[in-house]
Amino acid sequence: MTTIDEVHRLRDAALARLAGADDQGSLEAWRVAELGKSSPVMTLMGRIKDVAPDDRPAFGAAVNAVRQAIEAAFEARRAEVGARALAAELAGDRIDVTLPGTHPPRGGLHPVSRAMRRICEIFRDMGFQIYQSREVETDAFNFTLLNTPPYHPARDMQDTFYVGDDVVLRTHTSPGQIHAMRQYAPEPLRIILPGTVYRNEQITARSEIQFTQVEGLAVGRGITMADLKGTVAHFARRLYGADRAVRFRASYFPFTEPSAEVDVSCMLCDGLGCPVCKHAGWLEIMGCGMVHPLVLANGGYDPAEFTGFAFGGGVERVAMLRYGIHDVRYFWGNDLRFLEQLR
Ligand code: PHE
Repeated sequence: MTTIDEVHRLRDAALARLAGADDQGSLEAWRVAELGKSSPVMTLMGRIKDVAPDDRPAFGAAVNAVRQAIEAAFEARRAEVGARALAAELAGDRIDVTLPGTHPPRGGLHPVSRAMRRICEIFRDMGFQIYQSREVETDAFNFTLLNTPPYHPARDMQDTFYVGDDVVLRTHTSPGQIHAMRQYAPEPLRIILPGTVYRNEQITARSEIQFTQVEGLAVGRGITMADLKGTVAHFARRLYGADRAVRFRASYFPFTEPSAEVDVSCMLCDGLGCPVCKHAGWLEIMGCGMVHPLVLANGGYDPAEFTGFAFGGGVERVAMLRYGIHDVRYFWGNDLRFLEQLR
């Protein structure tokens, strides 16, 4: 027979064990053991009917009081453990506002993107629109429609990446001229075509298999070589400085006639001669010319009525001159040390 004393001992033992529960897990285990269905107190509650009828009220009251005491102790302990856990978490989260700040890493535009933006801005101010053209081209667009006959050395397998029999990675931005003309003819147009081009070459400090060009094209009635020279000279002076001299050297491209190479007086030595201009005093910046009548016709313009000029040049070179970079391989080498220097 259980006595009231024993009920009290049971309570004292449960409360003593509670002192050892110091986290959520052990508290829960204690609750199940001391207040759960098969805990000693609950078992006693079920046994009230075994007690002599006269003693039942006192016994029942004692067991009830003990259960309430255990419950209250549990709630108090739980609050205490919770408060302590919160305090520990807050202490760990404390921020020392006197510590020096850490700089989050900052991205930046690639030097070629920056050069390209600058170039586009200058032509935008002259009323040119941007025309985006594809990088994978048919042989026809990259060569034939640009008056580059099958025996032309530019078609040599060594210079061109062939994707299929008649499909190439464009070797220059010029095929975009045909796409643009066919889209806009017979309306006059004035566009620049920026983009990546590919050439199957030995990679060296001076040549890459992937690089960036920007092409210009103007087609309309009465456009002359004077318009070409004025446009190109204005561009060169805005990009490289107002007192740069610009010269045109006769040259050859299959898709322009006449054709010229554009030189700008070296901005590093002011034309006096230095290692960058190889003591020539001049730097070659682009190729250009009057759009060949056959190319105009391929683009859908009547060459008896329309004329036009085109130009094209490398963008890496612009960035190289501007930042004094002497190896073109840095641009696509993905070396953060290089990119971070030019951020
Ligand atoms: N497409 C030529 C090249 O890649 C450049 C050029 C463009 C020349 C337009 C004349 C006219 O070298």
